[in-house]
Amino acid sequence: MMRPIKSKTTKKIAAEWDALAETRFNQIRSGLDQSFDFILTPAILQEVRNATSHSLLDVGCGSGTLSSALAPRVRSLVGIDPSRVSIDLAKRYNRAQNATYFRASVEEWADQNSQQYDLLVANMVLMDVADLSAALVAMSKLCKADGTIHATITHPFFWPKYWGYDSAPWFSYMAETHIEAPFRIAAAKTDLWTTHTHRPLEQYLSSLSAVGFRAVRIKELVDPRSCVTASGVTYPRFMLISASRA
Ligand SMILES: C[S@@+](CC[C@H](N)C(=O)[O-])C[C@H]1O[C@@H](n2cnc3c(N)ncnc32)[C@H](O)[C@@H]1O
Repeated sequence: MMRPIKSKTTKKIAAEWDALAETRFNQIRSGLDQSFDFILTPAILQEVRNATSHSLLDVGCGSGTLSSALAPRVRSLVGIDPSRVSIDLAKRYNRAQNATYFRASVEEWADQNSQQYDLLVANMVLMDVADLSAALVAMSKLCKADGTIHATITHPFFWPKYWGYDSAPWFSYMAETHIEAPFRIAAAKTDLWTTHTHRPLEQYLSSLSAVGFRAVRIKELVDPRSCVTASGVTYPRFMLISASRA
């Protein structure tokens, strides 16, 4: 069950993640979200290997599980998210000596702070922001001139196929489309609705370029265990996009 909708404000999107935060935290903590453990976290950690002199901004950090895995690899880490409940969970359960968490959207954080970071991470966030251009303008402002961004997203081409809306009458690959659906992962369904936005790959790349990110690199992320998982999905459901300001 899913439906296309008109755009939604960040405040409303944050309220959806507030409602889901505890469920989501438990899914991740219990190892139920295998894509998080086996595909997304390894892809990001591989990019942030030897960064002990770097400052990192985890944009849309949710309840902070990935942030706490990244913290030992960097000098300092700030995690931000507009969901108050997620940030409270991060502060409570994913503390690290060099990590701090704040409730703010990336747009608000860029407005309120002049600090810039060596690394920006956004794990599964860019397809959830209400306004991609506004979020990337903010991320560009927060990234040092020689800084780098690593963002994972649902694969724009294969995700609609995976969720089964590629053949829906309202779907068109080239059209940005906001979609409401009950949140689910491969191993669990919920009755809590969240909003994600289908955007064609071209939109991600041109929006990054428009705000000054260069040397864009893409990795299409296949589940390394795809022949043994129940879903057996062999196409890439996720994508890592890296880019630099230099
Ligand atoms: C799929 S969750 C990912 C959470 C976390 N990165 C993780 O990997 O567990 C998407 C997150 O993006 C956050 N988000 C939505 N709009 C945002 C914005 N404008 N700025 C920062 N974060 C945002 C949501 O509140 C939500 O926590």
